[in-house]
This record gives sequence, structure tokens and C-alpha cells, in this order.
Amino acid sequence: MRYDLLIDLAAAKKPDVLIEIGTHRGNNAKRLKAHCRKYYGFDLWEAGNDETDKRESNGKGRSTKAQAAQVLAGTDFELIAGNTLDTLPAFWERGIKADFVFIDGGHSVGTIGSDWQWTRRMLNPGAVVVFDDYYEPERDGFGCNAIVAGIEHELLNGDSFNGTLIRLVKYVHPSGAA
Ligand SMILES: C[S@@+](CC[C@H](N)C(=O)[O-])C[C@H]1O[C@@H](n2cnc3c(N)ncnc32)[C@H](O)[C@@H]1O
Repeated sequence: MRYDLLIDLAAAKKPDVLIEIGTHRGNNAKRLKAHCRKYYGFDLWEAGNDETDKRESNGKGRSTKAQAAQVLAGTDFELIAGNTLDTLPAFWERGIKADFVFIDGGHSVGTIGSDWQWTRRMLNPGAVVVFDDYYEPERDGFGCNAIVAGIEHELLNGDSFNGTLIRLVKYVHPSGAA
């Protein structure tokens, strides 16, 4: 359900440039791409293993870059493989600015915090950032709860899974901000 809300937010924003952290098989990438000109997707893909699954609490199983590329074929997209702790700093050097960011990659607080710190530097004024994985009750070491606590945000609807409510969070970058 929350992914339908995500798509509604992208449809309302109509971003020129959209970044998704955690593209996985590209299921939502395809739906997000319908509302933007250029899509950039980041994921571990083939670099994922048992250790990263555990560290990032990845419950969706593995995927490949080719799967995501196939889903997006024929559209204007770029996929960047690897750990976002490394790939986002390198991407930032390209000076690309985004109008919409969906943060749904690693679930550890450390990775979400890093994903936020790098993507926030890429935001155009008025850009919308949607975080997945706000957990109620909070999960120690996981989720975006601790990250969004430090910024102005709106808590959105979510889905219940195994006794945890998983909500989206929306942040809007100030219009006057660079
Ligand atoms: C919840 S899934 C993403 C689902 C996808 N956004 C969707 O809506 O279908 C999380 C993805 O993040 C990726 N991931 C986990 N840790 C990562 C990291 N440190 N760097 C890059 N990708 C990571 C995993 O490989 C996984 O594909």
C-alpha cells in the first residue's frame, strides 16, 4: 500500500531527475520512471551476499542489475551498482541535482544516515525526499527513525508486517535552499 502512496507523490511532483536508493528488481523503478524524465537507481545487486543481507536486514532476496535494466529498457535511466557508502560520494562528484529521492536501500541506521547525508547535497530547491522504513515500534539499529528525528518531516501511512508498522516519511527541501 505504501508504495502506491510513493507513486502518487512522484506523480504529484513530476520530477525532472529522480534517484532511487535500493532499486532491487526495479518493480517500483518502473512505476517511478513513468513520472520523471531521468531515473538513477542504486543497488548492491551482484555485490549483495549473506553478510550484507544480515547487516542491512534485507528481507527481499537478491536481485541483479540486469533484472532492473530489463524492466527499465527503452527509458532514460542509469543504474549504479555497489555499496552506496562508496557509490554515492562518487556520484555526488558529477554534480547531478535531483528533484525527488526515494531512500529504500540498506536498512541499517548507518547506511540510511549516509544515504541521506549524500543525497541531501544533491537536492534542488523544493525537492521531495521519501524515506521508507520508519518502524513502529522502533527497531534498534535499523530504520530511518533516528535519521528523520533531526529534520522537519511528515510521517505518512504504512503497512503492517510481522507486528511492525512500516511507514513512509516525506521531507521537502526548502525552496530557498541550494
Ligand atoms: C527493500 S529493497 C528495495 C526495494 C525497491 N526500492 C522497491 O521498491 O522495489 C532494498 C535494496 O537495497 C539494496 N541495498 C542494501 N544495502 C545496500 C547498500 N549498502 N548499498 C546499495 N544497495 C543496498 C539491497 O540489495 C536491496 O535490493
